[in-house]
Amino acid sequence: MILLLTPEESFLPFLQGLVGENVAIRRHWDPAWRSAQPLDVVKASANPVPDIVVVGPTVPEDIALDWAGAFDREHPDVGRLIIAPTTPDLLMGAMHVGVREVVPPNASGDHIREAVNRLISASARLKTARPAEVAQRTNRVITVLSAKGGSGKTVVATNLALGLNAHKPGSVCLVDLDIQFGDCGSTMNLEPEQTLADAALNASVLDATTLKVFLTPHPSGLFLLGPPQSLVDASEITTTQVKAILDLLVGIFDYVVIDTSSGIDDHAITSMEFSTDLILLCTSEVPSVRAMRRQVETLDTIGLTRPKRHFVINRAGTRVGLRTTDIEQTVGLDASVEIPSSRGVVMSTNQGNPIIVSAPKDPAARSMQELVQLFVTEDDDASLDKRARKGKR
Ligand SMILES: Nc1ncnc2c1ncn2[C@@H]1O[C@H](COP(=O)(O)OP(=O)(O)OP(=O)(O)O)[C@@H](O)[C@H]1O
Ligand SMILES: [Mg+2]
Repeated sequence: MILLLTPEESFLPFLQGLVGENVAIRRHWDPAWRSAQPLDVVKASANPVPDIVVVGPTVPEDIALDWAGAFDREHPDVGRLIIAPTTPDLLMGAMHVGVREVVPPNASGDHIREAVNRLISASARLKTARPAEVAQRTNRVITVLSAKGGSGKTVVATNLALGLNAHKPGSVCLVDLDIQFGDCGSTMNLEPEQTLADAALNASVLDATTLKVFLTPHPSGLFLLGPPQSLVDASEITTTQVKAILDLLVGIFDYVVIDTSSGIDDHAITSMEFSTDLILLCTSEVPSVRAMRRQVETLDTIGLTRPKRHFVINRAGTRVGLRTTDIEQTVGLDASVEIPSSRGVVMSTNQGNPIIVSAPKDPAARSMQELVQLFVTEDDDASLDKRARKGKR
């Protein structure tokens, strides 16, 4: 349903003629709104919540922007179109409140119809961005989780992503979903200019092409979707936005590797819903192992049983740590890979060059390779061979 906020009564039949009778349009207008709080206007008009709100024509620019901004805060999934003279101020303001569609009042009917249709299909995509087809997918979405902080999630996620990318360059995206304190960028010496926060702001109008603008390329061909640069930006990211973004990434990349913050927050749950595989990571210390057992129990309780679980013990084999068999017994899972403690890991983290690349012979790098091998397919290497042969000719 389209909500039309304009004093122009005649615009409703005009718009209806453009979009067809199948799309319901409701016009709301109250002259008192011009001086009302934008949030009150949203509350008074968005009942029921529309799929799209069209503000204008003949709504002053500053009011239109305030209302569009208020819709963004109250109903971030509602697509927004402003119909007003496209002054530089309006376009700049629209960008700040995440409005992608701005059309001048004298635009052609086709122009307006196309803008509305883009918003309608984006809204439909947001609604259907469900992980329902996980079982049929051939690509892998791998979420890295640990119950305790500092277990090595970021080290594992970055090395895994780079390792997979070496088998199939350009087809891997690393997503930093540790939205408050994500550090995948610095671990790989990247400083994303665009981040998850920018992508989230535009989530309702993104498509596979426009989403790429928000990814930061690594020289290896790997792509990173970096974390927000401020805690305020992080707090404004909704799970619906993350779903829409993951839904698109899954359609673009063969491998999506997702780093998370410790424990299970809403974004980790969203990410697990999209995942084919989970890497459950703990260290060989009692609190970490116990917390991992509780985390596994929680996944069972909330029904997150579909993604394949790969249990990984980090900093394994230290003299003071627990024995692997004891850890496995406590957690109730067999370890797929054990990563030894290595000074090389710390050095490579500090240098921004993950160990799988900087010191491939280091025992920890070899374990990372073992982990990578759990996910690569023969097709990946076949395409690599083909490229190599082409390169030699
Ligand atoms: N196998 C290892 N050997 C030596 N040091 C390691 C190993 N794994 C991780 N580290 C070091 O431990 C620290 C924490 O690792 P990392 O940042 O990957 O953990 P994390 O689980 O992502 O933490 P957070 O929960 O804070 O995001 C880093 O300094 C890293 O270099
Ligand atoms: Mg981390």
